[in-house]
Amino acid sequence: MNQSITGETEEITRFDKEFVQLARMALSEQTEDVRLYLASLVRQYRRNRLPLSRELERLLKSSPARSGSVLRRSGRPEVTETLPLDSESQMSLLKVYRDEAFPTPPVLSPNVRAHLDQLIEERAQSARLAAAGLSPTRSAIFVGQPGVGKTLSARWLASRLGQPLYVLDLTTVMSSLLGKTGSNLRAALDFAKRNRSVLLLDEIDAVAKRRGDESDVGELKRLVTVMLQEVENWPRDGLLLAATNHPELIDPALWRRFDQIVQFGLPDDRALRDAIEQFLGPTNSAFSRWLDVLVPLFRGESFSDTERAIQGLRRRVLLGDGNVDSAIAELVATRALDHLDHDARLNLALVLSKHTRWSQHRIHAVTGLARDTIRKHLKVKGAA
Ligand SMILES: Nc1ncnc2c1ncn2[C@@H]1O[C@H](COP(=O)(O)OP(=O)(O)OP(=O)(O)O)[C@@H](O)[C@H]1O
Ligand SMILES: [Mg+2]
Repeated sequence: MNQSITGETEEITRFDKEFVQLARMALSEQTEDVRLYLASLVRQYRRNRLPLSRELERLLKSSPARSGSVLRRSGRPEVTETLPLDSESQMSLLKVYRDEAFPTPPVLSPNVRAHLDQLIEERAQSARLAAAGLSPTRSAIFVGQPGVGKTLSARWLASRLGQPLYVLDLTTVMSSLLGKTGSNLRAALDFAKRNRSVLLLDEIDAVAKRRGDESDVGELKRLVTVMLQEVENWPRDGLLLAATNHPELIDPALWRRFDQIVQFGLPDDRALRDAIEQFLGPTNSAFSRWLDVLVPLFRGESFSDTERAIQGLRRRVLLGDGNVDSAIAELVATRALDHLDHDARLNLALVLSKHTRWSQHRIHAVTGLARDTIRKHLKVKGAA
């Protein structure tokens, strides 16, 4: 009896300690350590706290390891060589992503998807290519407006290739002294070449943007030359990616060196629908009947702007009275007035009358259209 009380007390004390340890890691934002620790607790609790163990396991699986960290398997760092540092600030030049798996892949147009699948297929079939004297695609440049998934796709690609993604942001590198830019660029490129990886030169147009300053011309030319050579001689088992919002600023000679050019466009309705469903996450079902209303609200917007607005919507529903209908009405009202032209608002009025039970008065209130206009438009469309 006594023994059992002592045993129980010991267990409670250990549980308390584990709790404190977890809190400590969480507060110092050691997310990867939290994950590793939780995984060990899952195993341990299987013996005496099965429901808790299952719940923790479920949580771990539903939020897979994410960006910006060096994931460790069996406590061993995977990168054997340390990341190159900027000599002055001692900050890492490269940002590291090691996404083991993506819970949901990025929403891609069929064309972009085909390009990326081709890259992966070529890697899988590299022996066959080599037998025919061919190399797999070694470099690609991603072109598109902000927030359309260039960086996200690079992460997804690297995770599918089972390699880390290193990102060198050229805007940051270019903001340092130019003389140092050259050595920083070289250090980053050499590091990526030595360690099997995907390297993303983000905002590669930043080099061109510095052209205005006469005194830098010589050094800038040298930088472009370094990049030209690197793109051309990148190792066959590595992949060099670049991303830009300003293709027109890139030196044509450099541009030509990339094996593939991948154009990322703004999402069409199909892609917007898929993305909105993805961004709604676990609350998807509560909003599913609103998708026809949501999609036209975001036409012409990037994925990231849409994501931000959808997250705002989810927050409003969660912290408000939980009424989806009124949160959507609020969203429609703000977006219709700020982002949609007259025709788009007329179309929206039509969608609202078809997919909701809202009165014409309410549709008038949220779209800002005159009631007469709505009535006439609905009549014409109804007759058509
Ligand atoms: N195609 C997509 N599918 C799903 N989510 C996306 C997509 N594109 C962007 N997002 C969301 O927007 C965020 C920002 O996207 P990302 O960083 O890939 O944009 P980018 O094209 O690299 O923009 P920038 O030119 O500003 O670097 C992503 O982390 C993701 O949450
Ligand atoms: Mg980006």
